[in-house]
Amino acid sequence: MSEKLSTQPYKGTRDFYPADMQLRNWFFGVIRRVLETAAFEEYNGPMLESLELYAAKSGEELAGKQTYNFTDRGNRHVAIRPEMTPTVARMVAAKMNDLTFPLKWFSIPNMYRYEATQRGRLREFWQLNVDIFGCDTYEADLDCIIAAINILRAFGADESMFTVRINNRRFFNDAIAAIAGTDAEGAKAVSKVIDRKNKVPREVYEKDLTALGLSESQIARIDALYGMSVRDAVAVCPASVGAQELLNLFEMLEKLGLDRYCVFDFGIVRGLDYYTGTVFEVFDNAPENNRAMFGGGRYDNLVGLFVKNAKVSGVGFGMGDVTLENFLITHDLILSSFGRGVKVLVTRFDDVPYESYLRLVETLHAAGVTASLYLGSKKFGKQIDYAVKTDCTHICVMGGDELARGVVRVKNLATREERDFPLSEITTAF
Ligand code: HAM
Repeated sequence: MSEKLSTQPYKGTRDFYPADMQLRNWFFGVIRRVLETAAFEEYNGPMLESLELYAAKSGEELAGKQTYNFTDRGNRHVAIRPEMTPTVARMVAAKMNDLTFPLKWFSIPNMYRYEATQRGRLREFWQLNVDIFGCDTYEADLDCIIAAINILRAFGADESMFTVRINNRRFFNDAIAAIAGTDAEGAKAVSKVIDRKNKVPREVYEKDLTALGLSESQIARIDALYGMSVRDAVAVCPASVGAQELLNLFEMLEKLGLDRYCVFDFGIVRGLDYYTGTVFEVFDNAPENNRAMFGGGRYDNLVGLFVKNAKVSGVGFGMGDVTLENFLITHDLILSSFGRGVKVLVTRFDDVPYESYLRLVETLHAAGVTASLYLGSKKFGKQIDYAVKTDCTHICVMGGDELARGVVRVKNLATREERDFPLSEITTAF
């Protein structure tokens, strides 16, 4: 073969070099702490699922166009997960009788979608999934929205940086029925057009609604809803169960002072077919990050796909690492000191036995100090160079003279301070 193989990763995927992993581990660590504090428990599932799991409920765009799928050697139709919600619904259904509800679960799996790659959208991404199963009231919706807000606040974000846009599918269907006389299928068709509203020119949006039988004045009535507050909007169909859910939710957000992060937005319908109640998306307020960062909502019927007559409703959201990283960079929320704990390089000299260094490193490890022995034999200056370039905070120097005196010289690379420590007390240096 004369051509060399490409060093580039597959389109829309990323290599995570150690510095990239450090960043990702840091922000997922912050998220884990927020969620565990709110008593969410972590779970995981397989990367491969049967294709029909997505065909059943995810919707044509995700299941039909964006899912990587293949037939395995046993002739099974298999998909690489494009989302986690069907998997978690399957897991809950499988142990329904053993689990204690309400469940508060989260997971941070990677997933694949065959997408047109663009800022904020790749083909492989990691997606935080937060879900609550077994609570039918808006209280669980509120819990999820609070978790989303608290995650961003934990990074130091404030209301100038992000907005939670909230709607309700039940209310949406009732409002569209009140305006255009549609049934559930008709409302779903309208929702698909509204979901694409900000991605297509206005003429295309109007043409698509007209093709569904909506008149100019009906389109104008829908337009009016986009700018309305929740209280004005629910007046369109006050008897709607969804209207009441929206009012309850917003009232409580106001009482908690969380309404400063949230707005009602009739244009949020969500592209996935399984949502039945509250739906929401979190947007970065920076114009260059115009894709949703979080998306989620309530889904009442997913567990029922697996267990006849099961009545376990769920609500939750997904948040991708790509948009979160863009958000943190754009708003300068990445602490320059993240991951910068103590890291020691033990430098070495030819006149000291190798095993003396290995013992020193072992002592440091036993005390929980991150440390490594320089591998190979290079001049001292080169070893220092290596320590600086690999973000070490300290070096240990133990030449023949120090060894004879039973001490180790410790140098702090930031302050340039140096001090000798008896070998037996070396761990007190860090
Ligand atoms: P989704 O709206 O498809 O919902 O995705 C949720 C979030 O995942 C998006 O807001 C975005 O941050 C991230 N995301 C989606 N696609 C990509 C991509 N191609 N590249 C990078 N990030 C992406 C769901 O997946 C639902 N299953 C979420 C959910 C959980 N609903 C209830 N529970």
